[in-house]
Amino acid sequence: MDIRIPRGTQDILPDDARRWQYIEDKIHDICRRFNYAEIRTPIFEQTELFQRGVGDTTDIVQKEMYTFTDRGGRSLTLRPEGTAAVVRSYVENKLYGSAVQPQKLYYIGPMFRYERPQSGRMRQFVQFGVEAIGSADPAIDAEVIALAVDFYKELGLDGLKLVLNSLGDSASRHAHREALIKHFRPQIDEFCDDCKNRLEANPLRILDCKTDKEHPLMKTAPSILDYLNEQSQQYFKTVKELLDEMGIAYEVDPGLVRGLDYYNNTAFEIMIEGKGFGAITTLMGGGRYNGLVEEIGGPESPGIGFALSIERLLMALDTQGVTLPDSKGLDCYIAAVGEEPSKRAVALMTELRRAGITCDKDYTAKKMKGQFKAANRLGALYTAVLGEDELEKEVITVKSMTEGNQEEIPLKDFISYMKNKLEDEKK
Ligand code: HAM
Repeated sequence: MDIRIPRGTQDILPDDARRWQYIEDKIHDICRRFNYAEIRTPIFEQTELFQRGVGDTTDIVQKEMYTFTDRGGRSLTLRPEGTAAVVRSYVENKLYGSAVQPQKLYYIGPMFRYERPQSGRMRQFVQFGVEAIGSADPAIDAEVIALAVDFYKELGLDGLKLVLNSLGDSASRHAHREALIKHFRPQIDEFCDDCKNRLEANPLRILDCKTDKEHPLMKTAPSILDYLNEQSQQYFKTVKELLDEMGIAYEVDPGLVRGLDYYNNTAFEIMIEGKGFGAITTLMGGGRYNGLVEEIGGPESPGIGFALSIERLLMALDTQGVTLPDSKGLDCYIAAVGEEPSKRAVALMTELRRAGITCDKDYTAKKMKGQFKAANRLGALYTAVLGEDELEKEVITVKSMTEGNQEEIPLKDFISYMKNKLEDEKK
């Protein structure tokens, strides 16, 4: 076959899909406990949303967007991240007018970035993200961080490192920006073209450059933490105190600048340590974005959030050898041979399923031996045999696949018998 899956994307086949469903269940569960409600926004948006929201000078907007013109001549973009879209929805649906503030929202969905694919870096990936919009209370920063930390821990990951920084408010950032320009300008010719362009447009991004990361000026660059004004310092201090209060360990790294433009004050990432994880060690990232709602056309509404990809999470679980509980397996397989027994099996399955029991049968005219093999392959706990003889006597033979013993049950009692057996199994 010549047609292949696009680079940087993947099929999630049934065995793997179970792991995804397990993780998605965990996401819904933890978000319920933290009182975050799900929001679903379109896969594509007007291109301008990301240009304004994520920022014209970012790699995402400059190099990584899947942008196309639709038949009506509009420029649309497959969303590269969720925050700008959630903020657009918050503004458009006037969620800022709700009595409930902050709006505590979460989403799970595919994002698209034209990146160089490698392990942990996909062109289509699924983000779980959380956004709390409408509060500038440092307690909400701490809550959002705690949600991410607890989520990873509950899945059984360890070796996590929470890295924290403050990017300050706009006054602090402005002062830092001037200092950065002054620092890099005299030697900017020694830097890559991207950095040259960043010098005036967005000098903070120079600190995140992969090409020039060894340049001596990088190490001596002015730290944002030295430029935080009184208010920003106080804010950062409170966030740290709250994390201490919650028993959440962190490291402060003034070099953590994040790749999107909307951040101010709190910025954070969770990294994973340990060998076998390759070059990609950042599991999730987030931060505060106090000007974004206004930038998108809404009233002043401070926000904070994070996003993580399920692909990187699964990689981390695999590297650490964490196996997720397997929900695979049938309660009951009905092995029916012959025309009448097969018909009866269909009716019995309907009743079993209505009683909440997972079951299946053969649809490929297999002999009895083949059907038992299939039952085994499907992980059935019980196999119920229905042949012409059984049907004549109005019975069914139920075999426990784990213990090997079997019992003949009147057909009329089969459903309640199975219910009881499965109840016992759970005890
Ligand atoms: P981001 O740092 O660009 O932030 O991405 C967040 C997370 O998405 C990363 O830490 C990683 O887990 C995952 N991710 C990003 N790119 C890829 C990729 N190519 N392949 C696999 N996984 C990837 C944001 O997207 C912000 N919207 C986060 C945020 C929410 N900030 C505030 N609220």
